[in-house]
Amino acid sequence: MALFSGGPFGGGSRLAQPDIVAVLDVGTSKVACFIGHMEAGSGVRIIGAGFHASAGLKAGVVVDMEAAEYTIRHAVAKAEKAAGLAISSIYVNVSTRSLKSHHINVDTKFSSAEVADRDLKRVIDATLAEFNEPQRAILHALPLNWTLDGERGIRDPRGMFGNNLGVDMHFVTANVGVLRNLAHCIERCHLRIAGMVASPYAAGDAVLVDDELDLGVTLIDMGAGITTAAVFRDRALVFTDAIGVGGKNVTSDIARGLTTPWEAAERIKAIYGSALESPTDDTQMVPCPPMGAQDELHEETLCMLTGIVRSRVEETFEILRDRFAAAGIGNFAGRRIVLTGGAAQLSGAVQLAEYIFGKRVRIGQPHGLLGLPDTMSGPDFAVAAGLIKHVLSDKSDAIAGPPDLSGRRIRKRHYAGGSVTRSLKWFKDNF
Ligand SMILES: Nc1ncnc2c1ncn2[C@@H]1O[C@H](COP(=O)(O)OP(=O)(O)OP(=O)(O)O)[C@@H](O)[C@H]1O
Ligand SMILES: [Mg+2]
Repeated sequence: MALFSGGPFGGGSRLAQPDIVAVLDVGTSKVACFIGHMEAGSGVRIIGAGFHASAGLKAGVVVDMEAAEYTIRHAVAKAEKAAGLAISSIYVNVSTRSLKSHHINVDTKFSSAEVADRDLKRVIDATLAEFNEPQRAILHALPLNWTLDGERGIRDPRGMFGNNLGVDMHFVTANVGVLRNLAHCIERCHLRIAGMVASPYAAGDAVLVDDELDLGVTLIDMGAGITTAAVFRDRALVFTDAIGVGGKNVTSDIARGLTTPWEAAERIKAIYGSALESPTDDTQMVPCPPMGAQDELHEETLCMLTGIVRSRVEETFEILRDRFAAAGIGNFAGRRIVLTGGAAQLSGAVQLAEYIFGKRVRIGQPHGLLGLPDTMSGPDFAVAAGLIKHVLSDKSDAIAGPPDLSGRRIRKRHYAGGSVTRSLKWFKDNF
């Protein structure tokens, strides 16, 4: 897929370099753009990266079209300048509150005895026909598990013999209106959308290691406006979720609780903030700049600050824990949690997560990218780093290209016999 519209800034090469891709992480606090390619024998190489403080975007939703367009244009221009080329299409992340997982199981009869590509396609089409929510666009369609004549756990049934073929499909979807606005904003920047990837799915590619992906792991991307989660097992994405709470909420709580301006609260959070109490919290004081010119600088105890920070982060983890439990993935998700995103850098976040989830927790930094600038290699760039690794790797997504944002219902097709089950309790039913 050619991504070039022209040469470098100020003219230059128009040589076709079809393997170069560009990705965009539209965040609440910053928008990041990475440009790179797969280097034979070495891995993904970043040839240009840039970011810009965000405006007009909140939890993956465009709230001010012009401001968002300005931010995206600047982030892309910085990456293009660093890469020395201009891009014309881009892969973008999706991290909205509407991000959701659906599991659909279909079982069909087929006439030929040996399973071929067309049989897989027909079964996948049947699951698509069952997905009947015009207000949601499918971002990922992932066959998790094939069944042949009732035999479960088949990775790839092609070349095998049988009469009934079934599949457990995992659809990751988001609200179509939100995606349309995001797509429109990116198109206003004269960029074509090459694809959309759910943020925590992408972040997994940047920060998780093979053992975690095999044994089961939950990735939690803690951003400024949104916290998203993805559960991986047997190297497949099996569940995603998102809640509209992030580091910005912690900052607002501090500003309100300590009666200090928002910018001061952000600084206080980074310097003194912790989700864990310490014995000296009662005696240590935190200087709080005044709200207006009339007020004077005042001090509050560290104990008060820790209480404010802890209660918000605790609530965030508890909501996620309860949602995982409601979806039935508690033990299925393995014994490990990886926190990433800028807000994961909060002191004490790891220990608090260990306490609430009862699992081993670590911070995930992007790894395995060549040429990534030091300033963009922290957990806050895990989504951008993961996006580029994701699109340059060969994933088992049954739908290629950008999602259908038309809002049309997928036409119901007829297939021979078989049963269809949809279950929110998919994990309970299948494992
Ligand atoms: N050292 C730190 N301690 C605590 N919080 C931090 C620290 N560094 C960054 N943060 C917080 O991380 C958040 C930004 O994270 P990130 O860059 O991942 O968000 P984003 O991708 O822009 O937003 P989102 O994904 O929510 O749309 C901010 O709320 C910021 O306050
Ligand atoms: Mg983010």
